[in-house]
Amino acid sequence: MITLDISKATQFLPRGAVEKYADKALKAAKALEEATCAGNDFLGWVTLPTDTTDEFISQVNDCAKTLRQLCDTIVVAGIGGSYLGAKAVIEALSNSFQWLKTDNSNPNILFAGNNIGEDYLSELCELLKTRRFGVINISKSGTTTETALAFRLLKKQCEEQRGKDEARRVIIAVTDARRGAARTTADKEGYTSFVIPDNVGGRFSVLTPVGLLPIACAGFDIAALVNGARDMQKATASDLPFDKNISAIYAATRNALYQSGKKIEILANYQPKLHYVSEWWKQLYGESEGKDGKGIFPASVDLTTDLHSMGQWIQDGERTIFETVLSVKQSEHTLTVPTDEENLDGLNYLAGKRIDEVNKMAELGTQMAHIDGGVPNLRLVIERVDEYNLGQLIYFFEKGCGISGLLLEVNPFDQPGVEAYKRNMFKLLGKPGY
Ligand code: PA5
Repeated sequence: MITLDISKATQFLPRGAVEKYADKALKAAKALEEATCAGNDFLGWVTLPTDTTDEFISQVNDCAKTLRQLCDTIVVAGIGGSYLGAKAVIEALSNSFQWLKTDNSNPNILFAGNNIGEDYLSELCELLKTRRFGVINISKSGTTTETALAFRLLKKQCEEQRGKDEARRVIIAVTDARRGAARTTADKEGYTSFVIPDNVGGRFSVLTPVGLLPIACAGFDIAALVNGARDMQKATASDLPFDKNISAIYAATRNALYQSGKKIEILANYQPKLHYVSEWWKQLYGESEGKDGKGIFPASVDLTTDLHSMGQWIQDGERTIFETVLSVKQSEHTLTVPTDEENLDGLNYLAGKRIDEVNKMAELGTQMAHIDGGVPNLRLVIERVDEYNLGQLIYFFEKGCGISGLLLEVNPFDQPGVEAYKRNMFKLLGKPGY
């Protein structure tokens, strides 16, 4: 199971500062489970892992199998919670050089609808001219402009290249059961579709078909992902004591740090493949907690890469930060440093060591330096980067987020702030009614 060490954070806090939140954190966990808290119409994610049946996983896998047979490229259109979870898991599990591989039995999974870049969309459409591509159109509201724009282009091009009938077989909708333009189009065109449950908000939806379908299309084991989440659901149940519940401990610690003036949390990883896990985490915590003039600002760094850019700030900048390190115990490959007779680079002192050992020492050395520099440090350890462990991690962060938002006394499940830019943009563009 994932472990969490907070001892290097509590040394910066008065004695008992985390335990002070213990009762409240367990009450918050219970309120999430019993749906008695703010935002209680968006708590479907709490029991999603144990509610997901083998039969449902098979349905998603069957759809993915069809797409994998008919397509060399699958474009996933979606933004925010309808994008980041799938992107995070697929990036974490894929070969780092997937794009350059010619012996690929897996389709390329590309993403669109997460920006309004004309160059991005033009270059994508150009690339797709030579591809047998399919589209997964993901939008809970079914009306998000970024996604709808990309889908309009992709649908047209797919129909032109494959004909309307075949296009219908390779365009899939993941959307609301009844509402929104994506549902209307899916029903009219007769697309295969999956429903995003009413009671699961976008940023908590990676374990619904929003994440599961693209992840299955990329060739990964979604049953193992859900299993990992299921085990974490049990391990973070509110009837467990506080000191056994790592989501409650995480939520309590970050709130204690926040109250002590640490306004920014930096999630640090030492594996480049985890970059988008941090992006997903930023959305989860940023949209859930940043409201009513409150909330920890979630930031992230990829290390050791960013030690050569943000390292200076973390070490010596304003002391309003704390760091949560996401550490992976075991890497998937073995590579040792070779001996070199001439030793011109002076690296023979590392000869015979695993690259991962060098990375782990960089991690430890950085932790020590940051603590010396006054940065409280939480350390999350996952066994390895596979479906099962990512499933655990996803649920751990979701539960932690729900508890943490309730400790902060905000509604963690709404996002009223994201409407402001939309209203202005629609008005500027002359959308009827604005
Ligand atoms: O978490 C959220 O609710 C948002 O980030 C949404 O996922 C995002 O705005 C996309 O919305 P939709 O799925 O309705 O297109």
